[in-house]
Order: sequence, then structure tokens, then C-alpha cells
Amino acid sequence: MKKLMIGLFLVSSSLFAKEIILVQGAMNIETEYLIKSLSNPVKEQVASWTFWKGEIGDKIVVVSRTEIGITNASAATTLGITKYSPDLIINQGTAGGHDPKLHAGDIVLAEKIVNVGAVRTERKEYGVPVDDKDGIFFEDVQRIRDSEGNTVDYPYFSSNEKVMKTAKNIDYKNGSVVVGTIGTADQWNRELERIKFIHERYGTSAEEMETVAAAQVAKAFNVPFMGVRILSNTDIHNEDFNPETAIWCQEYTVDLIKKLDLKK
Ligand code: 5AD
Repeated sequence: MKKLMIGLFLVSSSLFAKEIILVQGAMNIETEYLIKSLSNPVKEQVASWTFWKGEIGDKIVVVSRTEIGITNASAATTLGITKYSPDLIINQGTAGGHDPKLHAGDIVLAEKIVNVGAVRTERKEYGVPVDDKDGIFFEDVQRIRDSEGNTVDYPYFSSNEKVMKTAKNIDYKNGSVVVGTIGTADQWNRELERIKFIHERYGTSAEEMETVAAAQVAKAFNVPFMGVRILSNTDIHNEDFNPETAIWCQEYTVDLIKKLDLKK
């Protein structure tokens, strides 16, 4: 009888356990609206990285300010997973346009995520001029060791299909929502020839500085991942950084969090 009671308790507590979502933004402007959306927020700081744990509707939501760049995003994601055991990680925020079809305010749902800074070159002698086009994708950077100790190379990382499906059905009024490729690097590129080159080589819709780090760490820990990026700027159309887009992206993300049912 006692065993049965414990069994029933375990089954019901896992059935009614609240989903935990870790939602990331690099900067204050990319996290402030999310933090304001939390009920009962509790702030926690670990070294350079800050987390706010609260609730949105029936879900536990941890907002993570990752800080800028790949190193920061990797550390913040690792900490976020080990501290809060999330059922899902959403990385969201601003990005720069690579696809001429896209404008500031458009949202890219990250079907593919790639480290566009992972490049090696073959040996060349002194006197041979540097040419970025000779760079070869250094896929070893996107290697993950699985639980059996085997390594697996990922040409790109992806967002969770179920979450992607829900994300596609969120109402959004400040631009269009497309499914595309996010290119991450510790770079901010404004040379149109360089943007065109990366877009043609990797099929990037937009560039930014964190998504691949979060997606790769999430994959290594087997935590479902979703990347949502808004174009805040695009040099292709001479559209300068618009900080309001960071709020639009967070509004979209809050709507997504409310709509999600990971148990279904
Ligand atoms: N290139 C690179 N990063 C960008 N970001 C916004 N636009 C761009 C861009 N065009 C984001 C990065 C980083 C911060 C500097 O802004 O993800 O967090």
C-alpha cells in the first residue's frame, strides 16, 4: 500500500510538475521586457551571469542574461542547465540581416544554426594574399561527444520541431516571420561583400553572436532548443540598429511561452 501511494505520488507529481523554460537574451534591452513579464521573480547572480526565476502563466521561466558573444553564451547556458534543469531553452534577441528579402522587424525562427566563425585555411606561403573566400568551414568546432564516448559532427544545429510548429503560429504585427538560418560568430559584419559571401556560403538569414553556442551546449546536454532572432539592423537596406525590435522579439517570445505545451 505504501509503495502504491509513493508510486501514485511520483506519477502525479511528474504529471503536474511545472515546465521549466530557460529564456536567454544577451543584453539588458533583450531581457528587460522578459523580466517584467515574470511573476514572483527571484534574481540570482553567478560570477558574470544573471538569472531571474519566476513564472509566466502555468510555467516556471528563468530569464538568463547571457552577456555578449560565444564564450558568454556557452557559460550562461551551461550554468542555466545545471542550476535549473530546463525542459526547453529559448535563445532570442537581435540580429543583423543577411538575406536581402528581410528587413528590420522581421523575425527568423532558427531552423539551422551554424558557427560562421569556425574557419580554417590551407597552408599558403608568404606573398600569397589573404582571401577570406579560401577559408574552409572548421566543422570540428561543432563536434559533440555523446554519452557512449563517441564524437558526432553537426554541420548545423536545429530548433526543436514541436516548438518551431507553435512558434510559426504566433501572431506578429511588426514584420514577417520566416524560417531560416542563423549564423553566429564573435563578429559584427557591415561590409556588404562579406555579408553576401557568408549568406551565399552558409545560407544565412541573419547574423548574431550567441545562438550557436547556446544550441550546441543544449544539444550536448540533450535539452530541447529554440532560436528566435529579430532583425534589428540590416546594412543591405541601410537600416540602422533599432532598439525597439529587441522588445518586439521579447513580446513574441512571451506569446510563444504562453502558447507552448511541451507535454502534448
Ligand atoms: N552582427 C552581430 N551581432 C549582432 N547583434 C545584433 N545585430 C548584430 C549584427 N549585425 C547582437 C549580437 C550581440 C549584440 C552585440 O547584438 O547577438 O549580442
